Amino acid sequence: MSGVAPIRKAVFPVAGLGTRFLPATKSIPKEMLPIVDKPLIQYAVEEAVEAGIETLVFVISEKKQAILDYFDTDAELQAHLLAQGKKDLHARICNIIPRNVTTTYVIQEEALGLGHAVWCARAVVGKEPFAVLLADDLIRSPGTGCLKQMVSEYHATGIGSIGVEEIPPSMTDRYGIVSVLQDATGRNRIREIVEKPAPAVAPSNLGVVGRYILPGEIFSTLESVRAGVGGEIQLTDAIAVQLASHPLLAHTFDGIRYDCGSRQGFIRATVDYALEDKELRHDLLSHFSLLNDSKN
Ligand code: UTP
Repeated sequence: MSGVAPIRKAVFPVAGLGTRFLPATKSIPKEMLPIVDKPLIQYAVEEAVEAGIETLVFVISEKKQAILDYFDTDAELQAHLLAQGKKDLHARICNIIPRNVTTTYVIQEEALGLGHAVWCARAVVGKEPFAVLLADDLIRSPGTGCLKQMVSEYHATGIGSIGVEEIPPSMTDRYGIVSVLQDATGRNRIREIVEKPAPAVAPSNLGVVGRYILPGEIFSTLESVRAGVGGEIQLTDAIAVQLASHPLLAHTFDGIRYDCGSRQGFIRATVDYALEDKELRHDLLSHFSLLNDSKN
């Protein structure tokens, strides 16, 4: 669709407390926990860069210095690796963020909720449509990454979207839940969105995952949203208000999502990514087979 504003900025809210990973997250940000050898935040950054994002906006808290350090240049380590002839490792730490991509940090002083974290990015994002990625939802796509799929759909329709997937009906109280209506093009338009409804009152079992393309107008709505479920300022509540004036699509992505904010999802992701790694696969499979033998 011509005349559609490009999606140039992505917001990464990484200022949460990560309580489900205590005690590790007492000193390590949840988003810095590695799946095999890359921190969760890097997977999300790579997905955004693949989607054509030019500015990465990290919403951090005072305690998340490790994230700034991670994306900063470490000249001493680079020189050391080069002196040791470790070119592969050198390339891995030099190319974390491509040169043409800018990073910016904004502070969320208190973890008041995801909606509040996104609102903290308002001055940097301005009025343009933008993406939001939650790094603890890790999405492994066979081809095109999830955000790039959503950006393509946005370019085709001029309408933003939210990543969704079917979840077990008994688990609606852990997700934002949407109900949808099919439009004339066969796409699913979001009719209603509710934060963590009990299974008995949930409008569907389509759960929101941490990928959004939102209009810049969301910031003025976030301004007036009050604390909702869990006493937090919820992004879902602002989106619900906005739906009346700004339609959004529910994007069922091609790929597997791991809820790396939970221990189960984190371990599953670790196993699946390790099985894809040529060096680790064989060792891991023989370890599993030994475990299996010892049970029988
Ligand atoms: P979560 O609710 O999953 O993360 O927020 P959490 O609060 O850090 O973790 P738990 O539930 O205590 O274990 C989803 C994303 O939103 C960010 C988090 O960092 C995470 O990436 N977030 C959440 C903020 O940036 N600020 C907030 O106030 C809340």
